[in-house]
Amino acid sequence: MKFFIDTANLAQIKEAHDLGILDGVTTNPSLMAKEGIFGEEAVINHYKTICEMVDGDVSAEVISTDYEGIIAEGEKLAALHKNIVVKVPMIKDGIKAIKYFSSKGIRTNCTLVFSSGQAILAAKAGATYLSPFIGRIDDMNWDGMELISQIAHIYSIQGYETQILAASIRNPLHIVKSAEVGAHVVTCPLSAILGLLKHPLTDIGLAQFLADHAKGNK
Ligand code: G3P
Repeated sequence: MKFFIDTANLAQIKEAHDLGILDGVTTNPSLMAKEGIFGEEAVINHYKTICEMVDGDVSAEVISTDYEGIIAEGEKLAALHKNIVVKVPMIKDGIKAIKYFSSKGIRTNCTLVFSSGQAILAAKAGATYLSPFIGRIDDMNWDGMELISQIAHIYSIQGYETQILAASIRNPLHIVKSAEVGAHVVTCPLSAILGLLKHPLTDIGLAQFLADHAKGNK
């Protein structure tokens, strides 16, 4: 399973990259705004910077919601760097655009996915990645992981090549469960990635090892 970090924060991207386990980055307009990145030029420059930092896929989201606008924006984003993946919303014109991008060899990430029906449409259109939003489904008191599991089953028996990119990950357990039910990728905040490290028995055991080692040095 690939690990992407879900942020536009350069310090967090660097920290995850330095861990040596980072396969890519996803962003969205809200994450850009959170970093104070506004305006086309600033956004484009930020994507270029991220692509220079990480040798892996970088999802760059279109703002347009009409077919022509999505195509124009997506082609411009894809031309920035070989690792750019054009992130397209799960709407009617988005599906048409994903089909077009697929025919042109431009890779896509279909975002804002909340149902298996949407997942089937995106796969049929040739999306490279599909982003179901686990955390936001859980927030509604539904089961986000059940959706990932259902999509993984459908993609497997239908032979769809679209990769399931579990998004809206909120905690380490989301990462573990995504791996268990067959997600190809997780995109996570840095806190969820670092949370995988934590176990009190590791801390207790290490403290004991170091204490015992110190006895021999006295
Ligand atoms: O990749 C989509 C993700 O950024 C959404 O996460 O936490 O805003 O639901 P969240």
